[in-house]
This record gives sequence, C-alpha cells and structure tokens, in this order.
Amino acid sequence: MSKVVAIDGPAGAGKSTVARLLAERCGFTYVNTGSLYRAIAWRAFAEKADIGALSPEFLSSVDLRYEKGVLLVNGVDPGAALRTPECAAAASRIAAQPEVRKFLLPVQRRTAESGWIVMEGRDIGSVIFPDAAYKFFVTASVEERARRRMAEHPDGKLSFEEIRKMISDRDHQDSHRAEAPLRQAEDAVLVDTSHLTIEQVVDTLCEYMKKNPKE
Ligand code: DC
Repeated sequence: MSKVVAIDGPAGAGKSTVARLLAERCGFTYVNTGSLYRAIAWRAFAEKADIGALSPEFLSSVDLRYEKGVLLVNGVDPGAALRTPECAAAASRIAAQPEVRKFLLPVQRRTAESGWIVMEGRDIGSVIFPDAAYKFFVTASVEERARRRMAEHPDGKLSFEEIRKMISDRDHQDSHRAEAPLRQAEDAVLVDTSHLTIEQVVDTLCEYMKKNPKE
C-alpha cells in the first residue's frame, strides 16, 4: 500500500481546493500533478518546441523538482504562469503523449517517498498509485463546473456557453486519449460535488478515511 490519498476527476470539479484542504487537515503533503503537465507546456512555449509531438531531447531538458512544497521548473517557480487557459489547453494536448506520461511517472512516484501525500490528477488511482491507500473520484456536472469557473472570474471575457464548451472539450480530450485516459478506478469512491460545498466535500472524504483506517 502506498501512503497516498489519490484524488482524480475532470477539470473544474473542485479537486484542487478539496485536495489542498484535505492535505492541510490531515497534515499530509499536497501534490497537484496537473502542474507538472502545465510546467512541461510552459517550458515548451519558452523553447518554441512542437507541442503536438515533444521530442525526447526536449523532455530531457526539463528539470522538475519540489523545494519546500514549491514546484521548481529548471530552477524557477513559474507561479501563476501555469494557470493560464493557454497553458491548460497545451497541457491537455501534451498529456496525451505516452513519452510525456512516461517521463512524469517517476517524478510523481518520488513525491510519496517521504510520508503521506494527497495527490490530485486524472490517473493517480488508476496508473501512478494503483495501490494508493485511498482513492476518490471527484466530479460535478459540466454546467455546475462552468458556473463555478464563471464565479471565480466574474470579470472574465468568456460567456457561460464558451466556458461550458471549453470544459466539455477538455473532458472529451482527457477521457478519449489512448494513454491513461481520465477514468474512475474500479475501487475509487465516487464523490459528486454538484450539490455540495467545498467544506462538505472535505468532510465526506475525512469521514470516509476515519471509517476506513489504514495502518
Ligand atoms: O488539473 P489540471 O487542469 O491542472 O491539468 C492540466 C491538464 O493535464 C489536463 O487537461 C489533463 C492533464 N493531466 C493528466 O493528464 N494527468 C494528470 N494526472 C493531471 C493532469
């Protein structure tokens, strides 16, 4: 068993906030794996690499490390640069490439070497840590996820319909790729957050963990 709480699910389901708060409550380290894909996209923009087919040479030039919980990309903390819609769209494209997933596998596994972690992504319970102590699949309807995204960026330029389409396109791309598609692991607990507050979701996960203690 790996000392991992795996939280998978589609974009915009509230995974990141839930995973971060759960990690805080439990005193575990929080790891957001989407940032790793975004970091590669960010380096690819900087190097003008071909986003559609990243070369092994390019990948071997990317150095990903955590220092005090902060992701350093070739020694630099990219901060908010990873959160742009361009970076998200490019991350989703490169995440479909088997070489990229192979490159990130050991990077992700290493993070669990020094104690309990809450790791958030798309394939944590299915591929990265199939033996995770806990597996949750956190989701919400496309409409609810679009509403939340609108509320986060009230002065954004995109309409509700445009955001809804972006989310549904990314779901499609993430769940239909050949390599490690977004899917619920058979033994993962499904949590639909459409009608729950963030606190209620965190409570649900905590209660489940309390009822099912692992060593
Ligand atoms: O969670 P996020 O939006 O930051 O993820 C960015 C992209 O990376 C997303 O479109 C899918 C991909 N991703 C993935 O394929 N596997 C993961 N474990 C995490 C993210």
